[in-house]
Amino acid sequence: MLSKTMEKAINKQINAELWSGYLYLSMASYFESIGLKGFANWMWIQAREETTHAMRFYHHVVERNGRVLITAIDKVPTDWKSPLHAFEDTYKHEVKVTGLINNLVNLAISEKDHTTANMLQWFVNEQVEEESSASEIIQKLKLIGKDTSGLFMLDKELAVRIFTPPIDLTLYTPAGTAP
Ligand code: FEO
Repeated sequence: MLSKTMEKAINKQINAELWSGYLYLSMASYFESIGLKGFANWMWIQAREETTHAMRFYHHVVERNGRVLITAIDKVPTDWKSPLHAFEDTYKHEVKVTGLINNLVNLAISEKDHTTANMLQWFVNEQVEEESSASEIIQKLKLIGKDTSGLFMLDKELAVRIFTPPIDLTLYTPAGTAP
């Protein structure tokens, strides 16, 4: 059974993961609007991944006899000055999420909730990848600078990203079927 404190904190994280999904969907739409379909594809997949993160937390709360509360999602930014700014925001956001995950780990330890602390290790590792993939693209964008052909080459590279669920979604839906 989850403590009320832990339940509240995970519910807050579910909202934060869904907010992340909104943010990346908004970035996908920004990239579509400036004709960079490959960048849009990368962001769209990122948004889908965030939903799976939320679902993993959702399942954990249900499995531990807690109650998931789906609350309002705050609005997200809708425009960026350039692809570089959008990815700098992505990186900053992921660093913030890493902090949120670390705080949850600290809470789980202080609550002596080893099951939750164990589940959170997956997110600790996932955040390493989340930060590094954004920072890799920032480096490329900085090298490209104002070179349009370089930007289109990167757009082609990002277009091939495919959605690979980071978790087995069938484990996280009530009927055992992937959403
Ligand atoms: Fe759910 Fe991008 O961290």
